Amino acid sequence: MDWEALRSKAREMTTRAYAPYSHFPVGAAGLVDDGRIVTGCNVENAAYGVALCAECGMISDLVAGGGGWLVAFSCANANGDRLMPCGRCRQLLWEHGGASLLVDTPAGVMTMDQVLPMAFGVAELEEVSGEDN
Ligand code: THU
Repeated sequence: MDWEALRSKAREMTTRAYAPYSHFPVGAAGLVDDGRIVTGCNVENAAYGVALCAECGMISDLVAGGGGWLVAFSCANANGDRLMPCGRCRQLLWEHGGASLLVDTPAGVMTMDQVLPMAFGVAELEEVSGEDN
């Protein structure tokens, strides 16, 4: 796993961020199981609450580019330091990478089930519907 390549993409994406309100650019990069690297940056709005996190852009890039399963993820702030994904974005990552997704945290590489323990996911829906989603 080439973490430096992923971190470098995440850092590069901070320069594309649109963050005129928070002045807190964020960049995200993910490695997909087919070898693609998907990226995103945060995009804010005058209506503050509708800001899109960098991870949202990255997930759109993943799905619009053909889908796939995330295997590793890194997020950076403007100093190039590793950044933890916010709670909502942890849920997005769970959907597209599951429990074993490797997350680059300031405390070292962790699995997604360490970062989002006891997550809600498709299994909870299937328990009630009895259907495969
Ligand atoms: N932000 C992200 O892009 N990802 C996160 O996981 C945490 C927060 C953005 C949202 C907002 O544009 C700025 O950082 C300050 O909260």
